[in-house]
Amino acid sequence: MPQSDLLLEVENLSVYYEDQKAVDNVSFSVKRGEIFCIVGESGSGKTTLLYSLARLLPSYARVEGKITFLGKDITKLPEEELNKIRGNQIGFIFQEPSAYLDPLFPVGEQIRETCFIHHPQRDCFKAALWALKKAGITDPLRVYYSYPHQLSGGLKQRVNIADAVVNKPFLILADEPTTALDVSTQSRILKLFANLKEEGHTIILVTHDLGVVWEIADRVMVMKDGKKVEEGSVYEIYTNPREEYTQRLVEIFKKLSGFLT
Ligand SMILES: Nc1ncnc2c1ncn2[C@@H]1O[C@H](COP(=O)(O)OP(=O)(O)OP(=O)(O)O)[C@@H](O)[C@H]1O
Ligand SMILES: [Mg+2]
Repeated sequence: MPQSDLLLEVENLSVYYEDQKAVDNVSFSVKRGEIFCIVGESGSGKTTLLYSLARLLPSYARVEGKITFLGKDITKLPEEELNKIRGNQIGFIFQEPSAYLDPLFPVGEQIRETCFIHHPQRDCFKAALWALKKAGITDPLRVYYSYPHQLSGGLKQRVNIADAVVNKPFLILADEPTTALDVSTQSRILKLFANLKEEGHTIILVTHDLGVVWEIADRVMVMKDGKKVEEGSVYEIYTNPREEYTQRLVEIFKKLSGFLT
C-alpha cells in the first residue's frame, strides 16, 4: 500500500506487566479512513494494546517495539509532544465512561476543556456543543450542563464520544464502547461510528462481539494470549478463517446469530 495511505504502523510490539507478557510481538498497520477491529477473548491483551497506542499504560508497564503515527514513534515521544497528540490527533473512548468523567464538573465543561487545552484560540463552548451534537445528542445544551450522575449509560458514552471527537482527531481508539449498553443504544452508537468513518476519521475498535465487527469493520485482527492470531478483511475472516481459533470464534458467532453463508 502507498505510504500516504498509512496512518498507523505497529511493529513488533510487546508489552510487559512486570514478568507477564500481555502483548506478544504484534505487528499491524491501519489505513486512513478505515474501521479496524481488534477481537479476542478476555485477557488476550486488547486493552493493553490499545492503551499502548496512546501511551495510557501504567508506569510499571514496559513497552518494546515501534508505533509510528503520522511519521512519529509514539513510544519514544517526549511527554510534552505526546500531550499535543493525545486528545487532539488521537481521541480515546473508554469502556466505562463513568470512570473517566469527573463527577464534580458538568460534562460539557469537560469537553470544552479538551478543546481549550489544545486550541485556546477557538470558541470551545461552541465546539463542545458541536461535538455533543455530532455524538448524536439531540439536546446538547441540556447535556452540556449535566453532571455525569444525571446521565444514563448511553448518554455518558455519547459524551465520551463527543470528547474524543471535539478536536477532530485523525484517529479514534475505542475500547469496547458498546459492551455496557443495551442493544438499541449499541446500534445507534455503531451508526455513529460509521458516520465518523464517512467523514474521514480512522477508528480502531476493540470488541469481543463479532456481530459488531460484521456490522461496521473493514478489517479485523484476532488476538489470543497476547499474540496476533490472524488479520484480514471482515469478509475473509468470516468466510475463510485460516486459523483454528478464528474458525471456532466464527462458528460460535454464526450459531448464535443464525448467520447464513
Ligand atoms: N494494569 C495492569 N496491571 C497488570 N496486569 C494487567 C493490567 N492490565 C491488564 N493486565 C493483564 O494483562 C493481560 C491482558 O489484559 P487486557 O486487559 O489487555 O486484556 P483484554 O483482551 O482487554 O481483556 P478483556 O476482554 O477482559 O477486557 C491479562 O492477563 C491481564 O490480567
Ligand atoms: Mg479489555
